[in-house]
Amino acid sequence: MRRRIEIAPSILSADFAHLGKAIECVEQAGADLLHIDVMDGHFVPNLTIGPPVVSSIRKATRLPLDAHLMVEEPSRYIDSMAQAGVDWISVHVEADPHLNRTLHAIKAHKIRAGVAINPATPLVALEEVLGDADFILVMSVNPGFGGQEFIVPVLKKIRKLREQIASYNYPARVEVDGGIGPENLQEVLAAGAEVIVAGSAVFSANVPAGEAVRELRGIAERFLEAPERARAAKQ
Ligand code: DX5
Ligand code: ZN
Repeated sequence: MRRRIEIAPSILSADFAHLGKAIECVEQAGADLLHIDVMDGHFVPNLTIGPPVVSSIRKATRLPLDAHLMVEEPSRYIDSMAQAGVDWISVHVEADPHLNRTLHAIKAHKIRAGVAINPATPLVALEEVLGDADFILVMSVNPGFGGQEFIVPVLKKIRKLREQIASYNYPARVEVDGGIGPENLQEVLAAGAEVIVAGSAVFSANVPAGEAVRELRGIAERFLEAPERARAAKQ
């Protein structure tokens, strides 16, 4: 079966005064889902948006909404995010001592449940919940800000995670978030990423956001057509 790659623009780097327009651009360009970074100023040193804004976004697009909760005690926000209309929710393994319960609380709303993992957290922290997750969000920057540099050793972690998921035959998809753009997308895909988050590469690029999405899609399509060639080029 042909591998499926989804592109998830992160609105963190969009112009919030013209958010509707930004979302329309990436939707028309064929983005697969919209990544929404929710930050509480505690788990990460930044503040962004919460359920009221997510509700407004829900009315502005048909794209599935992918809420990345960078908050302490994420379980407190599951119901309000569900009411706001999100389709995917990820909570950080570092922020929740009751992950199993939280994943099931997310699934009870018929929302795809994911676990996010910081660059410095070893994969072993996921071992006991890997079978319960619909997706794993591998952070390739330290969360909190857009426009940071991709942390290269994370490529090895992505490879290892894909191997683990495959060895147990688990359904979890692998999403990768942070520092991804046209210059390194192929490498990230070769490591095994299936859902690609891109913020600054889409909304702060030299080209309009729609064009940036199409460029990422083109790279992904070329990779899918000839993954071996892409891999060989990197050796
Ligand atoms: C970082 C966020 C990311 C961010 C990615 O904390 O989780 O989703 O928007 O932005 P770029 O693609 O610019 O690294
Ligand atoms: Zn994110």
